[in-house]
Amino acid sequence: MRVIAVANQKGGTAKTTTAVHLAAALGERGVQPLLVDLDPQASASQWLGADDGGDELLELLTGETDGELADLARPTTAPGVDLVPASPALIHAERDLARQPAGALSLRHLVAELPARWPLVLLDCPPQLGQLATSALLAAGALLVPVEASAMALAGLAELVKTTGRFRRANPGLHLAGIVACRVDYRTLLSRHVVTELWKRFPGIAFRTVIRERVALREAWSHRQPVTLYDPDGDAAADYRALAAEFLARIEDDAA
Ligand SMILES: Nc1ncnc2c1ncn2[C@@H]1O[C@H](COP(=O)(O)OP(=O)(O)O)[C@@H](O)[C@H]1O
Ligand SMILES: [Mg+2]
Repeated sequence: MRVIAVANQKGGTAKTTTAVHLAAALGERGVQPLLVDLDPQASASQWLGADDGGDELLELLTGETDGELADLARPTTAPGVDLVPASPALIHAERDLARQPAGALSLRHLVAELPARWPLVLLDCPPQLGQLATSALLAAGALLVPVEASAMALAGLAELVKTTGRFRRANPGLHLAGIVACRVDYRTLLSRHVVTELWKRFPGIAFRTVIRERVALREAWSHRQPVTLYDPDGDAAADYRALAAEFLARIEDDAA
């Protein structure tokens, strides 16, 4: 089982969009991913048509209830994709986990107990590096970083590489598995510059696939459907399918 945290300390960098659509595109290919929504804003859960997850995930994380993460998993509107939904109650995790000596490690234990029926677990992280994102970086083997194609995004990446290094002390297996440029508009010089810089600075890590700026993604969100269903023949679905293919090819290379 591979556990991948979709993270970036910045908000609005297409983390949720990427987590949802990488999962949806993998689901279409017959890989059964489990998406765990760790953001109290619950955008991934809403996108996949799930009801509010209530207090269950919070109670599991804080140890208030004894149970398994698998018990909270449910099917979604995206074929082949299961989800552990978030809820606004997760906001309390920041305070509650900080009070416990090993609070941020509880997710690592919960994930380790997941059954093999999910070969891939994607963790959609909140933007700030609080207890929830920390939990994800302690539980994951790999980090997948979506960046928005802007100059600021490039500046933030150096910070993120440092953060990954710091987490490696507590979680030696953690590695930066991929960076994906999102919201790319090839008509602008800046977008083209960011993409070429990423390829230059992070060879083998920055995906060749880039995700173009497409309004269908925002429309799909308001329809509570992944774009692979909402606009299956459009560019956004094609981009995320290409990302899933490149992602799987890398995993197979790693395993070889
Ligand atoms: N490729 C894209 N084209 C157009 N809009 C996008 C694209 N990717 C993300 N967005 C929009 O950007 C905003 C932030 O994306 P989101 O995935 O919620 O970011 P995060 O989870 O990092 O905060 C959302 O409104 C989303 O619809
Ligand atoms: Mg998000």
